[in-house]
Amino acid sequence: MHNITMLGSGLIGMFYTMTLHGGRSRDRVSVVCARTEQEAKQFARDWDIRDWTTDMEEAINHPDTDVVVVGLPNNLHEAAVLAAAKAGKAVLCTKPLGRSAAEAKRMLDAVEQAGVFAGYLEDLAYTPKTLKALKSTQNGALGKVLWARSRETHPGPHSDWFWNKEISGGGAIVDLGCHCIEISRNFIGKDIRPLEVMCWADTQVHPIDAEDSAVGLVKYASGAIGQFEVSWAFRGGMDLRDEVSGTEGTIWLNHWLRTGLEMFTAKGEKGYVAEKSEGETGWLFPVGDEVGELGYTEMFTDMLDALDQGRQPMETFYDGYVVNAVMDAAYRSAESRQWETVILEDWRGSDETDLGVESAEYDADHFLIKQEKMPDGKTKLILKNKHSGNIVQKVI
Ligand SMILES: NC(=O)c1ccc[n+]([C@@H]2O[C@H](COP(=O)([O-])OP(=O)(O)OC[C@H]3O[C@@H](n4cnc5c(N)ncnc54)[C@H](O)[C@@H]3O)[C@@H](O)[C@H]2O)c1
Repeated sequence: MHNITMLGSGLIGMFYTMTLHGGRSRDRVSVVCARTEQEAKQFARDWDIRDWTTDMEEAINHPDTDVVVVGLPNNLHEAAVLAAAKAGKAVLCTKPLGRSAAEAKRMLDAVEQAGVFAGYLEDLAYTPKTLKALKSTQNGALGKVLWARSRETHPGPHSDWFWNKEISGGGAIVDLGCHCIEISRNFIGKDIRPLEVMCWADTQVHPIDAEDSAVGLVKYASGAIGQFEVSWAFRGGMDLRDEVSGTEGTIWLNHWLRTGLEMFTAKGEKGYVAEKSEGETGWLFPVGDEVGELGYTEMFTDMLDALDQGRQPMETFYDGYVVNAVMDAAYRSAESRQWETVILEDWRGSDETDLGVESAEYDADHFLIKQEKMPDGKTKLILKNKHSGNIVQKVI
């Protein structure tokens, strides 16, 4: 059983607490910290939490607490993590780990030097669908992964600070791209080095300094490509989709607007439908188990099990640092309009560059490029002559 200090009582503090107190869990949030007394007190009352405070240091150093969860605006992650490391407490930090790779690296160094357990709360890597898809991919069902595409778009975040670049560190890339990049990394292989990024980013709709839309390509050492698509200007709710292509297969994931429950209502229920839902009537896509579908349940199970078992969780601070380094390159690329190198002063993966794709042998003289059954029942073969390099077709 763990006693947890929850730093932040906003949207994520609420989802996290709902998850941690869910089912018959014995883990408890025992201290909550928010900016104002009113918020902290109300949250403590709503979620049956023993102590509340507006003082972050006091919350972290609370004698009952053994785990600190950081659910604060992005500009406060570093101070919170450094304070937890200093206090010798396990610390779990929400996404993005930092506003930049430099910030994330200082956080990584702090927890490693203090020897405290640390986990990166990247929930979307833990949705039940993603875990199942990852297992299939890791078992080789897709062959070699060539392309992993991840999309998160919605009509924009719910609090003022997200829209302020100084506080948040950026717009849709920092807020949503961090999820997409880590999802793609999981499918492509975390051991494979992200090399370069090409990114388009723009402020299409909102009167803000940061980007509200972006599309980026992340080139990996294996030759695989990660693609992220993010927007704060999308209408129609929250679109969370992933697509993975390999030499032997394909996976499509739709996490939010098509989860299997689709409902039409002309009058609505006057209540909450699902995160970032834009309406209460018409065709709706409610979500049966929101904290489960978003990955929070599996994520905290892995985090707290890892802490108990003395192992690393699936998502670590190191992963958060790599994601920040990819996002830094994306911002540089959006400015320079060139491919930009992912600067990782601390790379712990492999330097393997081979995608491992081998041409299929047809006969001693030919490789098989493609085989297709035609509407007339014949089979067409596209072949490459190994000696001349010529490409020919054969109908059988
Ligand atoms: N899927 C996800 O993993 C996910 C979803 C939403 C938000 N987040 C992340 O969670 C973090 C918080 O986002 P949110 O949506 O909960 O924001 P929010 O605006 O809803 O809540 C922010 C909370 O931080 C508290 N706070 C602000 N300044 C503080 C201070 N100086 N001291 C103590 N408390 C302070 C506020 O009182 C509030 O309770 C961000 O880093 C965001 O990126 C993650």
